[in-house]
Amino acid sequence: MTSKPIHSIPTKDLYARWAKVYDSDGNILREPSYIPQLFPSLLRPTTESIDDHFLPSLLTQAFSLVPSSSSSPITITELGAGTGRNTVKLLQPREGFKIENVNALDLSPEMLALAKSRCSFLPSTSTSAPSPKVDFYEFDAFQPSSFPDVQALEGKAGLVLSTLVLEHLRLKIFFETAKRLLKANGVLVMTNMHADMGRLSRAGFIDTDTVGECGDSFVYEIKKVVEAGREEGFEVIGKMLQRGIGEGDVGVTVGERGVKWVGVSVWFGCVMRLEGKEE
Ligand SMILES: C[S@@+](CC[C@H](N)C(=O)[O-])C[C@H]1O[C@@H](n2cnc3c(N)ncnc32)[C@H](O)[C@@H]1O
Repeated sequence: MTSKPIHSIPTKDLYARWAKVYDSDGNILREPSYIPQLFPSLLRPTTESIDDHFLPSLLTQAFSLVPSSSSSPITITELGAGTGRNTVKLLQPREGFKIENVNALDLSPEMLALAKSRCSFLPSTSTSAPSPKVDFYEFDAFQPSSFPDVQALEGKAGLVLSTLVLEHLRLKIFFETAKRLLKANGVLVMTNMHADMGRLSRAGFIDTDTVGECGDSFVYEIKKVVEAGREEGFEVIGKMLQRGIGEGDVGVTVGERGVKWVGVSVWFGCVMRLEGKEE
């Protein structure tokens, strides 16, 4: 996808370098596109990213499975929160649902610093409901015992959210981590790059001064993801959602950059419930 040489570096180093441009590098999965043909006078993005488009319905489904109230609010833990793109959404008041704590975990201190800053600029809301308390934790899912603060969060989450992170982890590690963080019957909302896209591209960016950088990245077929989840006690609830890019998307739902993905499945996501974990 680039003529520049690709340089493979540890994932933590990748995000340390990528953080500064991560939110503005035109990635179709997580960044809104600016499509000037639609609204020529606007100089800001005019469409939702693919991941942003699906997240609200996945969260609504998940919240219906994890009832909460003011007397029994829930904790949400986000695995691989990145720059807080979704963390900030969890802090908005939600009708009929009470979130007490949001724990944002990530491998990269540079990405977490951006998440903290993003969450500190929450617009004030018209309701008097207090926002959830949000805490940020450096964490490596490959070495959970090195992070005692995160170990203290185990078994506390009603919901674990993890968007576009699975590609960096072994399947077993991903589901074991989600299972440890969740309560019995807790719910996991996960999204990932589709295998068809993953075979053509890895998580990485073009450092304009030097070369393309990418980190550790695994390509997973949906079937394998579902099987690996089941081995740890997770069952898909409802449908596994998938999204590909068609010719009609270019200039409508994705910008011109989306042209290279026409005919390719790029995204999948679902809600899974953890069954059989003891309280
Ligand atoms: C593609 S970004 C997604 C960020 C965010 N969830 C989003 O959707 O915008 C992947 C994130 O996973 C984090 N990550 C990668 N490997 C990890 C690991 N072993 N443990 C915890 N987080 C990890 C990275 O630091 C990065 O912030």
